[in-house]
Amino acid sequence: MASCSRCPSTPRRGPRFHRGPAAAAGPRERWRCWRHGAAHAKGRRMTADPTLRTLRPDDAEACAALVRSAFSAQDVVTDPPSSALRETGDSLRAWIAAGGGVGIAAGDRLLALLLWAERDGGLYCGRLAVDPAARGRGFARALVAEAEREARRRSLPRLHVRVRLQLAGNLALFASLGFREIARDVHAGYPEPTLAVLEKRLDG
Ligand SMILES: CC(C)(COP(=O)(O)OP(=O)(O)OC[C@H]1O[C@@H](n2cnc3c(N)ncnc32)[C@H](O)[C@@H]1OP(=O)(O)O)[C@@H](O)C(=O)NCCC(=O)NCCS
Repeated sequence: MASCSRCPSTPRRGPRFHRGPAAAAGPRERWRCWRHGAAHAKGRRMTADPTLRTLRPDDAEACAALVRSAFSAQDVVTDPPSSALRETGDSLRAWIAAGGGVGIAAGDRLLALLLWAERDGGLYCGRLAVDPAARGRGFARALVAEAEREARRRSLPRLHVRVRLQLAGNLALFASLGFREIARDVHAGYPEPTLAVLEKRLDG
């Protein structure tokens, strides 16, 4: 992504992408500075603006590749290893078909994704994955915000996720997004809890 031509000092982070189909304006003027919130009238040509869109079953192979590469590059090597590392096109095709999800893509390159499924009286969110080269730009925050919109569209009162206790950064991320811990869970064969169950209430 380019830096902002109006403020070259704009940090290279923040949700600088479009929601939905590419703007009708064409390849020019489609990019918005996260700080100014305005399209760049004389912006440089951007051929691949990151765009947030609903995932389709035929995205499954790209989703699986992204999930495996993102979870291979976590802050901490978790014990046990994440089951995300075993995701395949088939497993995610089934998830997308039965539940759904949202991705952020630049052209045909998938940069980030989040899958969901209606479960336990809420929208369960899983496989939050951002390409290691695209982190720190607010993509995870934007995907979770979209899940929240989806839950509200379905009149569900909560979002919930399961986060490894070893991943302090991920726990901090969800806390900053308004989630709180409601339970802990343990992987079979482990003596202590390995997971935090977090939820965000939408009915408060
Ligand atoms: C975790 C992950 C999805 C974050 O994606 P991201 O796009 O870089 O996150 P964002 O840029 O939206 O960051 C959102 C906020 O979380 C914070 N954050 C993100 N990752 C963090 C980390 N590892 N440690 C501490 N804080 C973190 C950011 O600083 C930011 O806070 P701010 O807006 O208040 O400054 C990404 O690192 C990833 O794909 N990790 C591997 C897969 C994984 O662990 N998925 C989550 C499973 S629960």
